[in-house]
Amino acid sequence: MEREVILESQSVTKHFGGLAAVEKVNMKIYQGEILGLIGPNGAGKTTFVNIITGMIPITSGKVYFKGRDITGWPAYKVGRIGIARTFQIVKPFRGMSVRENVAVGAMFGHTGHTRSSKEALEKVDELIDFVGMSHLKDRYADELTIPYLKRLELAKALAMEPELLFLDEVMAGLHTKEIESAMALVRKINERGVTLLVIEHVMKAIVGITNRVFVMNFGQELAQGTPEEVLNHPVVIKAYLGEKFAQRHMKQKAVAAKV
Ligand SMILES: Nc1ncnc2c1ncn2[C@@H]1O[C@H](COP(=O)(O)OP(=O)(O)O)[C@@H](O)[C@H]1O
Ligand SMILES: [Mg+2]
Repeated sequence: MEREVILESQSVTKHFGGLAAVEKVNMKIYQGEILGLIGPNGAGKTTFVNIITGMIPITSGKVYFKGRDITGWPAYKVGRIGIARTFQIVKPFRGMSVRENVAVGAMFGHTGHTRSSKEALEKVDELIDFVGMSHLKDRYADELTIPYLKRLELAKALAMEPELLFLDEVMAGLHTKEIESAMALVRKINERGVTLLVIEHVMKAIVGITNRVFVMNFGQELAQGTPEEVLNHPVVIKAYLGEKFAQRHMKQKAVAAKV
């Protein structure tokens, strides 16, 4: 059976002056999957998400969400139809508590305008619990450490009740243990029925949570396939991962094969 496409970009392009930050990107995201998006710094990953989520105007190309043309829609409208995102540079409302931060997401999301404030707050508490921050719910955002700021980002985005969620480097700056619990949380989000596009440099996380990976370089598609295919692709190794990674990866595979 053909899987259903939830989001499709056709030849999506963004120029900043003379710079082609995103150039003719054709991407399909399938309902229910976790798609990885990787590539060197400056490859255009964040810009691509900024275009889809209506944060910046598109130069050319088309964007379809569940078959509907959403090209050029503003961010608030994109949020209302069920698309949310986190930010690479976390942007909490610093003078507000954790609970208030998540409540803002609940008001602006997919179903926010149809919910009473009591219902919204119940939802907020459930999400704060879901991301493991119940003990911090009355703390101000500027009192939080990086791992909790990242979790707050996730709770804010989930409060919008998205069908499709873009995660932009939510694991950057985390230690090994924290990465593992972040991976478990991303899987749990997916099990709630949310389709995900995950931008990440942590290859262990890409291999551990994604079904499929899309690689960008210089604004363009470089490769796509299963994590295994992509990480062994000579072009991807050359442009992004480097020979050291390839050797280590092959060694680990050889060890795994022996066990
Ligand atoms: N608002 C902007 N104005 C000008 N150039 C930008 C802007 N945003 C991003 N860029 C440039 O676009 C390219 C892609 O950036 P970005 O999408 O942030 O890459 P990535 O997320 O893959 O690291 C980079 O060369 C970056 O400097
Ligand atoms: Mg980025």
